[in-house]
Amino acid sequence: MNLLVISGSAFPGSHTNAIAQIIESLVEQPENKVTVVDLCELDIPVFGQGKSDDVEELKRLTEEADAMMIGTPNYHTSYSGVLKNALDHLSINEFEMKPVALFCNSGGMRNSDPLTQLRMVMRGVHAMVIPTQASTCDSDFMKTAKGHVLKNEEIIERLSLMIDTLVKQADSEPVSI
Ligand SMILES: Cc1cc2nc3c(=O)[nH]c(=O)nc-3n(C[C@H](O)[C@H](O)[C@H](O)COP(=O)(O)O)c2cc1C
Repeated sequence: MNLLVISGSAFPGSHTNAIAQIIESLVEQPENKVTVVDLCELDIPVFGQGKSDDVEELKRLTEEADAMMIGTPNYHTSYSGVLKNALDHLSINEFEMKPVALFCNSGGMRNSDPLTQLRMVMRGVHAMVIPTQASTCDSDFMKTAKGHVLKNEEIIERLSLMIDTLVKQADSEPVSI
């Protein structure tokens, strides 16, 4: 499986990106390949205001991925604008029937509302979002010299389950609609 993990935080060193890094370490390699993209490091213009090499690269990575994991911070009980802007540059062409798993991090309490809304967006691009998702909050992380580290074992197990599901889905015959 060629897995693309997108971290949708507006800031470097985010909790969301820390989850993306854990995911990378959980995927069995080299039989699977993982690419992590931290959107805050890319030059992605506001949709409609031009293109960039990073937009083209994101399109290519999305198209080539067999499966994706998309993460977002909770901003006002929704997903981030950075992520929505990136998704607006993409389309059904890249997502059609692609297995996708979702995760999010909230500052206060764990909250799945951002993922419920992201699920609707994924439906709009014909992605196949798996039912299992992961919601964290800041207190699930430990702050170390290297940045945030996810320490909640139950959530780490859940991420492993999500990866296993994606591997199975990516191996199965795609259904066209
Ligand atoms: C614009 C904005 C809105 C936010 N709204 C919420 C919110 O509604 N609920 C919440 O729990 N945290 C909220 N937060 C806090 C973030 O979810 C929190 O800082 C989280 O750690 C961000 O994740 P990240 O480190 O992956 O970017 C908000 C933060 C920002 C910047």
